[in-house]
Amino acid sequence: MTYSIIGSGNVGTALARHFARNGIDVAIANTRGPDTLAALAKELGEKIIPKTLQEALKADTVIFAIPFRAYREVARESTNWNGKIVIDAMNPYGVPPEELGGQPSSDLVAAALPGAKVVKAFNQLPAAVLGSAPQQNGGRRVVFVSSNHEDAAIAVVRLAEQLGFAPISLGKIAEGGLLLQLGAPLVLKNLIKQG
Ligand SMILES: NC(=O)c1ccc[n+]([C@@H]2O[C@H](COP(=O)([O-])OP(=O)(O)OC[C@H]3O[C@@H](n4cnc5c(N)ncnc54)[C@H](OP(=O)(O)O)[C@@H]3O)[C@@H](O)[C@H]2O)c1
Repeated sequence: MTYSIIGSGNVGTALARHFARNGIDVAIANTRGPDTLAALAKELGEKIIPKTLQEALKADTVIFAIPFRAYREVARESTNWNGKIVIDAMNPYGVPPEELGGQPSSDLVAAALPGAKVVKAFNQLPAAVLGSAPQQNGGRRVVFVSSNHEDAAIAVVRLAEQLGFAPISLGKIAEGGLLLQLGAPLVLKNLIKQG
């Protein structure tokens, strides 16, 4: 399985830290090109591989850590989404409900990526919390996972575990995905202690 993170801002960097800490290779890309990611790669180590956007989109699992409206632009950068897992870590912040047309935001993303298996995950923790150690106060940070594709959801649950989080599967996008949208109560439920 190959991974990439699209976006090197608050969320992209937070996630890159966990890949680096856990020794998992991940490509990372932004709008400005790989040279602008050299300092981050130097800081986090060899597991963080700066790439162009087009190259990063070749990974099996691509994490969208970009402003919500940018998903259409990124969708156009690849013609081959078929079978790819796309992790939607975005929140439709500032997007009026009418623009979403009453749909879960992940469904709009899925519609732009033909054949991709979209999984909503890693969007509910504030970036500073997401980037900190998942083990806190005797518990682990929760990552909620929702997808219409069970195999993809299982793969993302495994990834979240590998990164040190406590994943909780919330079922399909129309159910769990909606719960995960901005302002939903699950944003605050983020630490679990297991006996
Ligand atoms: N901040 C939080 O606490 C938080 C928590 C959970 C979820 N989220 C969600 O996560 C997403 C990212 O938030 P953020 O705070 O990390 O944003 P951010 O700090 O502004 O970073 C956005 C990143 O996306 C990149 N980007 C924008 N358009 C792109 C495009 N067309 N192609 C490739 N890369 C593109 C930017 O590239 P450049 O660097 O080249 O400009 C930048 O690296 C948002 O959807 C947000 O709602 C945020």
